[in-house]
Amino acid sequence: MPVITSIEDLRRLYERRVPRMFYDYCETGSWTEQTFRENSSDFADIRLRQRVAVDMEGRSTASRMIGQQVAMPVALAPVGLTGMNTADGEIKAARAAERFGVPFTLSTMSICSIEDVAAHTEKPFWFQLYVMRDQEFVENILDRARNAGCSALVLTLDLQILGQRHKDLKNGLSAPPKLTLPTMVNLATKWRWGAGMLGTKRRFFGNIVGHARGVTDASSLMTWTAEQFDPRLDWDKVRKLKDMWGGKLILKGILDAEDARRAADVGADAIVVSNHGGRQLDGAISAIRALPGIVRAVGDRVEVHFDSGIRSGQDVLKAIALGAKGTYIGRSYIYGLGAMGEAGVTRALEVIHKELDTTMALCGRKSIAGLDRDILLVPQDFEGKWA
Ligand SMILES: Cc1cc2nc3c(=O)[nH]c(=O)nc-3n(C[C@H](O)[C@H](O)[C@H](O)COP(=O)(O)O)c2cc1C
Repeated sequence: MPVITSIEDLRRLYERRVPRMFYDYCETGSWTEQTFRENSSDFADIRLRQRVAVDMEGRSTASRMIGQQVAMPVALAPVGLTGMNTADGEIKAARAAERFGVPFTLSTMSICSIEDVAAHTEKPFWFQLYVMRDQEFVENILDRARNAGCSALVLTLDLQILGQRHKDLKNGLSAPPKLTLPTMVNLATKWRWGAGMLGTKRRFFGNIVGHARGVTDASSLMTWTAEQFDPRLDWDKVRKLKDMWGGKLILKGILDAEDARRAADVGADAIVVSNHGGRQLDGAISAIRALPGIVRAVGDRVEVHFDSGIRSGQDVLKAIALGAKGTYIGRSYIYGLGAMGEAGVTRALEVIHKELDTTMALCGRKSIAGLDRDILLVPQDFEGKWA
């Protein structure tokens, strides 16, 4: 068993063990990848205030997200094709999250279906919806999520059309992979991955194939999104979806204060400040720079969550100190999953937890509720003066 001390260790192992096509799909941003890079590098611009001689006994990272008790304010973000990083990936990630005591969010574009994940877990998980043109499909999948006991709907607003990621086009990304010569050569070196995939039937988009009218083979993500995702999604539709769902609603993909206010007007339980991990609008501001302005804009009207760029517990702490009540990790847990399966996701959560706890202590705080702007040193022009 390799000694894993950081998320970067997991990324390196992930790169070695998972087929190139899926590694690239994860580790990429759209177009020039500026936003993807800045999501992480802007975190590094924030420094921490070291405090001493504070009693550190009895610390806790426990907190709440949308009223739900969490072991730390970190949920697993919805990630499409999770089950292509390792066999039965969504089930493994959901189980690791459940055991750790943090929420798991299942993507619409998952490989394992809602029912499958529910059958292999005990606690309710969250379901993420991409709104499709096919109204019947949307109503049906919301029913399925409700019947499976999903305790929150995460409605993604920043992917009505797909941002271009060059590598996916060049690699001919599909699930399962098409066996071209370069793919076969690459797969030959990924025996661990291949053995797992041969042993599972879960290799297609489990929520879609056999559920959407006329779709029996949704192998191409690109074709599917181009044809099926609803570009007409607007605030009126968001309101209707809220009523249709009837439960807790989290609106994901908010990067602008004006949109944050609209989301609060709709009556969402939470918003996720996010730019989809730099995979959609390249040139958009990093999520961490956008966070303080959005927190100011909505105040206590809606719970503010955060994702995009988190690679450590220190990043989690910075987002919380800037006003987020919860965070999500995407790639950080996918690295663990591809590297070591369920144990790898657990390891990713452990690494982040340890970093969060230690950093909190060295900043002189004992609880998540005690993390505020005062523990940070933020450059004066951090939010930028944009005209
Ligand atoms: C490979 C990959 C697939 C993703 N698929 C989805 C998805 O199906 N639905 C969604 O709402 N967001 C999706 N996202 C975005 C994540 O939910 C999250 O916003 C993003 O990963 C956060 O950035 P991070 O990876 O830097 O933590 C995906 C992200 C990645 C990396």
